[in-house]
Amino acid sequence: MKCLLVFYSRSGNTKKIAELISTEMNCDYEEIIDTKKRKGVIIGFLKSGFAATREKLTIIKKIQKDPELYDTVILGTPIWNKRMTPAIRTYITENKERFKSVGFFCTMGGRGGPETFESMTKLCEKTPVSTLAIIRKDIKKELHLDEIKNFSRQFMS
Ligand SMILES: Cc1cc2nc3c(=O)[nH]c(=O)nc-3n(C[C@H](O)[C@H](O)[C@H](O)COP(=O)(O)O)c2cc1C
Repeated sequence: MKCLLVFYSRSGNTKKIAELISTEMNCDYEEIIDTKKRKGVIIGFLKSGFAATREKLTIIKKIQKDPELYDTVILGTPIWNKRMTPAIRTYITENKERFKSVGFFCTMGGRGGPETFESMTKLCEKTPVSTLAIIRKDIKKELHLDEIKNFSRQFMS
């Protein structure tokens, strides 16, 4: 299976997981860049969380890789207010016609995994091959490495 891994990360956790998955799978990856400023407590946290709750779209930088050229697109997002981020919502909205199959992963404090995967499934109009939710504190303890191997294996048949 030829896979493309697409992710957004504001503070680095999702990027760390994306790098581990893409190394494990030896697949191409694309980092989505949100052109909106997301740093700081007011804009970064409150406004961004509010935008996620309201299911807002954003403007993302032009993508480099055509998802149509891949058998599967694996989408990774941090969870914001129990939802996907505006950047990943925008990427899916703009590209979903070109997805053949999908997988999802997220990083989070601990709440909102099932709700987020459900809304990503609805938006993509596709059931994911596999999903992986990683809790931020497990990344530091390296408790996520086996889960990443198992998740990656689902796409390597
Ligand atoms: C605006 C905002 C809202 C968040 N909402 C949630 C949430 O609803 N549930 C949760 O478990 N974590 C929540 N978090 C924590 C992030 O999902 C978590 O820190 C994640 O690993 C960040 O990923 P990143 O470093 O790739 O940006 C939120 C973080 C931000 C900035």
